[in-house]
Amino acid sequence: MDQLPSLYVDLAPWWPLLSAPEDYEEEAGVYRDAVLAHRPGTRTLLELGSGGGNNASHLKRSFDVTLADRSEGMLAVSRRLNPELPHHAGDMRTLRLGQVFDVVFIHDAIAYMTTEDDLRLAVRTAAAHCRPGGMVLLVPDDLRERVAFETSHGGHDGPDGRGLRYLEWSWDPDPEDTWFYTEYAYLLREADGTVRGVHDRHRMGLFPRQTWSRLLALEGLTPAVLPYPHSSFDEVHEMFAGFKTDG
Ligand SMILES: C[S@@+](CC[C@H](N)C(=O)[O-])C[C@H]1O[C@@H](n2cnc3c(N)ncnc32)[C@H](O)[C@@H]1O
Repeated sequence: MDQLPSLYVDLAPWWPLLSAPEDYEEEAGVYRDAVLAHRPGTRTLLELGSGGGNNASHLKRSFDVTLADRSEGMLAVSRRLNPELPHHAGDMRTLRLGQVFDVVFIHDAIAYMTTEDDLRLAVRTAAAHCRPGGMVLLVPDDLRERVAFETSHGGHDGPDGRGLRYLEWSWDPDPEDTWFYTEYAYLLREADGTVRGVHDRHRMGLFPRQTWSRLLALEGLTPAVLPYPHSSFDEVHEMFAGFKTDG
């Protein structure tokens, strides 16, 4: 089994200082509006790779949200933020909850599918948990056609005196394959003022537009490309929906 990056294992308690729930409010509104535009009666939503539950902390105002992630540490972070929501441990390539939902949603966690075989398994899991007449919504951060291998930085200070700052540097060893690296350098400040640095390498999947629609269709869903506007984008991005036929 491939390893998760340190961020989701030993460093999971630091997640809210890297990526805070309030950073997700605008995008969660875009996902909610897309769901309600296409499936107005939606009540139940399953998120695969739900991480620290940042999206869920906003989506739960509109839907009955169920969360699943491969990392126990990230589930613990999310349970603190979303104690009222059901949480399940599971890999999006293999999870089977024995339940179906109106919508199955996968956001940035889909980037950890680095081969087409893995991506297909994740889409299969999403389709397996989608009720007839329901919708799968996939929101990759990057597409092969518009990826920019950039360097950025960020981080937050916590109410407990801890703080985190990070440098994020993406690069692609081979533009012909389906993955690239994002190298993270974290500076972690404890409440007593001590600071340490950690390097964490993330291997991220990268697929062209047509792969997303093709894999949704292969799993029996009717694919559609939906607009994904956000104030941080220079141009409107895309989200990939798959609709399951009724009955
Ligand atoms: C960037 S975080 C997701 C953050 C999330 N969007 C939020 O709102 O807090 C990525 C998550 O993907 C999870 N992940 C990576 N590979 C996975 C897999 N194969 N199955 C399920 N979760 C996975 C990691 O454990 C991590 O929690």
